[in-house]
Amino acid sequence: MDLMEVMQKRRSIRKYTGENIPEDKLDKVLQAALLAPTSMNRRPCEFYAVTDRETLRALSAAKRAGAAMLANAAAAIVVTADSELADTWIEDSSIALTYMHLMAVDQGLGSCWIQMHLRQSADGNDAEDNVRKILSLPDKYRIVGILSLGIPAQDRPKQELDDLEYTRIHRIR
Ligand SMILES: Cc1cc2nc3c(=O)[nH]c(=O)nc-3n(C[C@H](O)[C@H](O)[C@H](O)COP(=O)(O)O)c2cc1C
Repeated sequence: MDLMEVMQKRRSIRKYTGENIPEDKLDKVLQAALLAPTSMNRRPCEFYAVTDRETLRALSAAKRAGAAMLANAAAAIVVTADSELADTWIEDSSIALTYMHLMAVDQGLGSCWIQMHLRQSADGNDAEDNVRKILSLPDKYRIVGILSLGIPAQDRPKQELDDLEYTRIHRIR
C-alpha cells in the first residue's frame, strides 16, 4: 500500500474478532514506534506490548469511557515516556502512536488511539496513575495514550480525498 492509501484507510477500529495477532505483524507495529522521530533525538518513550488478558482488562478500566475495547483487544501498546528525559513527552508519544496506528493499517490490523493523559477512571482517579499502577511504573513516566490492536471485526469506509475539508487549508503566497 502506498502511504496515501494507508492514510485514507486509517480509521479507528474498536471491534476485534478475538483472534491473536501474528507475531510478525505485532513486531512491525513496534518497529514503527521505534522509527518515530523524537525531539533532540532524546527517545523518551518505552513501549509496553500487552497481550495478557488480565492486564488488558485492567487497562480497559483505567479510564471512565473510551477504553472498553481493550478488554477484547488482541494486544495493547502502552506508550510511556520519561518526562524527566524530554519535556516533549506529549509530542514524542503522539508521533509514536500515530506511526503505530498507520503501520497497523498497512498490516491489516484494526487499532484505536486511547487517550489516558488528562482523563479519569469511573472512581475519579487519574487515568495515568491507574496505568502506572498496573505496569508498576514510577511517576516520572507519563502516558499520553494506548493503542489497542486486533484483527478487525468491523469495516469502516476509507476517507475519500474529494471529501476532505480543504477550507481548513490556508495558503499564503
Ligand atoms: C488524541 C486522540 C485521542 C483519542 N482518544 C480516544 C479514546 O480514548 N477512545 C476512543 O475510542 N477513541 C479515541 N480516539 C479516536 C478518535 O475518536 C477518532 O480518531 C476520531 O473520532 C476520528 O475517527 P477515525 O479515526 O475513525 O477517522 C482518539 C484519537 C486521538 C487522535
